[in-house]
Amino acid sequence: MTNPIITIDGPTASGKGTVAQLVAQALQFHYLDSGALYRLTALSALTQKLALDDELAIATIASQLPCRFEGEQIWLGDVEVGNTIRAEEIGNAASKIAVLPAVREALLQLQKSFSKAPGLIADGRDMGTVVFPDASLKIYLTASVAARAERRFKQLISKGFSASMQDLMQDLTERDARDQNRSAAPLKPAQGAYILDTSALTVDQAVAEVLQQYASLS
Ligand code: C5P
Repeated sequence: MTNPIITIDGPTASGKGTVAQLVAQALQFHYLDSGALYRLTALSALTQKLALDDELAIATIASQLPCRFEGEQIWLGDVEVGNTIRAEEIGNAASKIAVLPAVREALLQLQKSFSKAPGLIADGRDMGTVVFPDASLKIYLTASVAARAERRFKQLISKGFSASMQDLMQDLTERDARDQNRSAAPLKPAQGAYILDTSALTVDQAVAEVLQQYASLS
């Protein structure tokens, strides 16, 4: 029997990461933060001073990404970068390299390798459409730009980064457009996905909704 997979896709700052981690905890499943892989690739590219449209060089980085996930910690080689990759600058660079088809292809096998017993929660933009098209349950988590900007604002401030609501709203709108309009694996709900708008939901309510959808499969 194949391991169960729940995919949670959606736009930037829709609350996917928080909801996905709590669902993984509740079900004791593994967790894939696919955005972190794009962020790690972007961080490596920036560190090596590569142009962010150098598809071949960045795909080479992605195919050999020396990353390790240990609880809250994310390692790139022997450096812990869990906090560093959350900076807006890295998020923006990640969204730029994510339009490059060869980079997406290079990260495909790495993402698939996260599927292990007893199951996986995979969070990203194309988990249900491209990486795990046979997932048991596909969720598309979304929220208004204003709600997402406010959440991202609080998240950045709590991590010690500075932030402005106006800049965040603009960044989110631009990043949404880039994710939705790219030709390689654009952000869109997978066929059959359950669409969950979390603008007016608490995290606990969103988690409960996903768990209920999963329970209703059996
Ligand atoms: O989810 P997160 O904001 O960490 O992702 C960073 C960027 O990586 C996104 O803006 C998106 O452009 C890209 N990404 C992607 N496909 C994924 C996950 C992330 O294109 N599965």
